[in-house]
Amino acid sequence: MSPNETVVRRSKTFFRSREGDTSQKPLLVLEDVYKYFRRDIPTLRSVNLEVQRGEFVFVTGPSGAGKSTLLQLVYRQHTIDGGRLLFSGRDISRLTERSIPFLRRNLGIVFQDFKIVPHWTIFENVSVALEILGTPAKLVRARVSETLDRVGLAGRGNERVSHLSGGEQQRVAIARAIVTEPALLLADEPTGNLDPALAIDILTLFEEINESGTTVIFATHDHSLLTTSPHRLIVIDDGRLIEASQGLRVWSARTQMSA
Ligand SMILES: Nc1ncnc2c1ncn2[C@@H]1O[C@H](COP(=O)(O)OP(=O)(O)O)[C@@H](O)[C@H]1O
Ligand SMILES: [Mg+2]
Repeated sequence: MSPNETVVRRSKTFFRSREGDTSQKPLLVLEDVYKYFRRDIPTLRSVNLEVQRGEFVFVTGPSGAGKSTLLQLVYRQHTIDGGRLLFSGRDISRLTERSIPFLRRNLGIVFQDFKIVPHWTIFENVSVALEILGTPAKLVRARVSETLDRVGLAGRGNERVSHLSGGEQQRVAIARAIVTEPALLLADEPTGNLDPALAIDILTLFEEINESGTTVIFATHDHSLLTTSPHRLIVIDDGRLIEASQGLRVWSARTQMSA
């Protein structure tokens, strides 16, 4: 096996528990999680959350509530300051710096501002995710082409992304996030820079990706995306997490009061 294949294989098996099959266990568990950016006031306080494989979870709440922080803890941008955070049965707060790339290979991440390279082509922006895993060139071509098909950009790999519309640029970012077939797709306000009709198109794309088996956590403060949605909803308000319908009612009432 080449060193590259060893890396790919290791990242695939890294988050399998020693007991073997983890498919029945939640993909993500937060137990009594705290995060402090200031010493006196926690940004997240006593957050408990379980996300099952295959779920689609909306995370909402007002600006500054802690939505991005929650996602950043999952991809280890920051470490937790209390509690436990398990991904695929593994305590990621105990990961060494060297092991963080193995965690991230199991995650796809999409941001509000796309974070794609403007002077690169669509193909280059998407293929880079596979190339850093050492995927052979022929397989890269096939996987990118398949993925562009899934996101509605079939046959457009040679176009430069700076020429694309906002909605198309976000599709490129989504393609880059899913081309490695991550177990969990994290999206932080992915529709924040798009007008309402495009926002719904992008949400629909996330739903299609979820239907094909990928677990999705979608953070948004855009109320209009949630109103007709059948998905599980958690609300973060002032660092506390409130589950589903109860939370939405609390937050709706507040939004209406302040309107
Ligand atoms: N890296 C950081 N350093 C210091 N404070 C931060 C940092 N990231 C977020 N915060 C603070 O944590 C709170 C929650 O922020 P954030 O998670 O970005 O909220 P949301 O995504 O819900 O708008 C805010 O008060 C913000 O200022
Ligand atoms: Mg945010």
